[in-house]
Amino acid sequence: MPKRNKPSRAGVAFFDTQADRLSKLYGCKQSHFDRLRLFTERIGRIVPQGGAILDFGCGPGVMSVALAESGYRVVGLDAAPNMIEFALAEAERAGNTNATFRVIDGDDRALGASQYDAILCSSVIEFVEDESTLLDSLAAALVPGGTLFISVPNGRSVIGAARDWAGRILHLDKLPGRRYRRHSLRTYSVSRLSMALRSAGLELMSRTYFESPIPGRIGVGLSRLSLLGTMMLFVARKPDPVEDGCDPRPSEVESFQQARVIR
Ligand SMILES: C[S@@+](CC[C@H](N)C(=O)[O-])C[C@H]1O[C@@H](n2cnc3c(N)ncnc32)[C@H](O)[C@@H]1O
Repeated sequence: MPKRNKPSRAGVAFFDTQADRLSKLYGCKQSHFDRLRLFTERIGRIVPQGGAILDFGCGPGVMSVALAESGYRVVGLDAAPNMIEFALAEAERAGNTNATFRVIDGDDRALGASQYDAILCSSVIEFVEDESTLLDSLAAALVPGGTLFISVPNGRSVIGAARDWAGRILHLDKLPGRRYRRHSLRTYSVSRLSMALRSAGLELMSRTYFESPIPGRIGVGLSRLSLLGTMMLFVARKPDPVEDGCDPRPSEVESFQQARVIR
């Protein structure tokens, strides 16, 4: 039985209506502009030009197209068909053939093995029931030495907690810009996400806090503080036994196996 990570029907139906709104946020909201800059800048620092990148849960494809325009080969996957329609139109408008997009139906086998130099997974796993299955599949899809860039809601953010509390009391989750909260299954602490990444076999390299409801540059500055930023970006690496200098020679593997049998 293949492992499946399909988001809830209600979740897909909801995201199917959000492509236009979400893509516009990147053009008009400082916090979304900062998110785009943060991801593209971090990826540009680590992933060599021309590398293969998977944008898992790509939404309207804003990040995928931006990365394709910087010379990466990008595959964008999303469960919501309208998001993919929108992303295809965006790539066509930009005249970029370095980005391809596909609907993914929740079957992780579609991700393949050792295919990507980097994977970006921005604001997706909090909507997925079985996070460990998804992280295992993302880790498997990375080449050895590849990098995962993943963002999640920061459960320790005072601003996030106040916003959620006010949202519940004032029923703000009914507002168009807040309805996504109903489909979000969890927030994360640093230790929870670190542990989940380690269990998937990935090594944590860095983390950065971002996003806040405070507008403008001041909001962006404050969002870098751990108690204020409502989101966290983790960068994690898949170990490369050859490059990391611990590639076991076949003879060593054999003697290790023999040693295990003897004991
Ligand atoms: C909040 S949006 C983020 C979109 C984009 N990554 C960004 O940061 O702009 C979450 C996206 O994840 C997609 N998604 C959620 N669960 C998914 C799953 N199991 N498989 C594929 N896509 C999924 C949704 O359809 C939606 O487009």
